[in-house]
Amino acid sequence: MERKEFLSLLGGGAATLFAVGCLGSCSKSESEDPQPGNANPGTGGSVKKDFTLNLASTANNLLKTPGNALISNGVIVAYTTDAAYVAVSSTCTHEGGIIGYDASGKRFNCPNHGSNFNQSGTVINGPATKALKQYKTTLTGDNLRVYED
Ligand code: FES
Repeated sequence: MERKEFLSLLGGGAATLFAVGCLGSCSKSESEDPQPGNANPGTGGSVKKDFTLNLASTANNLLKTPGNALISNGVIVAYTTDAAYVAVSSTCTHEGGIIGYDASGKRFNCPNHGSNFNQSGTVINGPATKALKQYKTTLTGDNLRVYED
């Protein structure tokens, strides 16, 4: 094989490698919303959460039965045994564990290190020392709005 031939083959191969490498990483959109459901995505770090859960949708069926909860948009929404909707951040303030709901204890729990929070997000037991962010809820027909002021 002549040197010129070799370099020609190498150049084509390098271009092919670049194209293959780019297929995996160059096709993703840079503007994907990391938190779908935000009313004002992309407006900076202080975007307030404001989303609505349609309780007529099968995806939100859990919230029709007292004692259940679901996580949406980084918020855990619970339907308490007192037939009230409560909502707090689903991320533990200690080290970021995913919060669960304990209907009988009327509180939120973190399985990672055992922190407990009341239904307003206030710490009952640590190691977490900071409250979970609390969100407001408003039910209008089948639409449950979860939002912050
Ligand atoms: S991450 Fe929740 S108690 Fe540690």
